[in-house]
Amino acid sequence: MQLIRVDALKPGMVLGEDLYGSEGELLLAKGQELTALHIARLASSVFEAVAICDNAVCDNDDLDSAPSKQIISETLRRNTTLALTSFYKAVHTGQRNSPQLFQRLKLHLEEIIDEILHDQGIVINIKTLKRYDDYTYQHSVNVAIISIAVGASMGMNRLALSRLGMGALLHDIGKIFIPKDIIRKPGRLSPEEHETVKQHTVLGYRYLSEHWDVPIEALVGVLSHHERCDGSGYPYGLRRERLSQEAKLIAICDVYDAMTSERPYRKALSPSEAMEHIIGNSGILFDEDLIERFFAKIEPYPVGTPVLLSNGYRGVVVENHKNALMRPKVAVGESEESNMCLDLLNDPRWWDVTIIGVDRKNNQECDPV
Ligand SMILES: [Fe+2]
Repeated sequence: MQLIRVDALKPGMVLGEDLYGSEGELLLAKGQELTALHIARLASSVFEAVAICDNAVCDNDDLDSAPSKQIISETLRRNTTLALTSFYKAVHTGQRNSPQLFQRLKLHLEEIIDEILHDQGIVINIKTLKRYDDYTYQHSVNVAIISIAVGASMGMNRLALSRLGMGALLHDIGKIFIPKDIIRKPGRLSPEEHETVKQHTVLGYRYLSEHWDVPIEALVGVLSHHERCDGSGYPYGLRRERLSQEAKLIAICDVYDAMTSERPYRKALSPSEAMEHIIGNSGILFDEDLIERFFAKIEPYPVGTPVLLSNGYRGVVVENHKNALMRPKVAVGESEESNMCLDLLNDPRWWDVTIIGVDRKNNQECDPV
């Protein structure tokens, strides 16, 4: 089984996982043979890559057994997304105080922390976090998962992770109070509309502090997740020394997940492209120490990524080494050394070979250049 980008799917491929819509409804079941119609539907959704049952692209014993180990279980991720959807909808329809729904969110957050603490060796394949056809809720859950995973890798204790996770999960709650036509506008926002959207930080902070017993660290995360280290952010233009660790970490996770998500008005960047953008702003917009922690937990080239190598080969990443994420195993296609795997970390023959970029022309095949 491997992750295949939606634009590289072909009729006849067999789905290796269940796919769900924003209400938790089953869209396509595992084992479904994809038709052209299914693929067209997926292409117009927010799914970027799906697991496909297939023969491995090269001999690799690990592929069938562990194609993409997930940071938390699919069930928990779905339940958290559904709980967040219900909470947002209740608040939106005027039920500003829904204790059961809020309790459910807190419960799921604790479960997420449990699962992440249980296996801290896992690095995150961002593509496995893009499986629901609804951006708003999936994005918030993703930001929470990634923030908690990075926080755990930094040695934060359980209480600190709960506070961080709560801020991350609810970071955009203030958008409920912004007119929908502005939030959902597919094109560029006017300066006035942009100013309106910027209010979501203060509105979210105010709503949570007035209605719920939310820890101050989480509230500050919500209020400050658009602040930037150089003071160029909003709502107050605070500089790095006045920003909390939670706010600076949520900011990185928020931007990374947003950039790697397909939006109606732009294509998703690849994980490595988003990584380059964030690293390019290291110490300027984002905290450099946190960036280092962040990219020790995130795969820049998830399994299934088509890549260009400095020796001229095109290939597909088939396995990541968790302590050397820039040096994965890459399957290259038919050549003299047909269907071979280049282990960029362990095989001295390839130590001088680097990945020079994502191969956007070759989303699945392994043809050499
Ligand atoms: Fe935001």
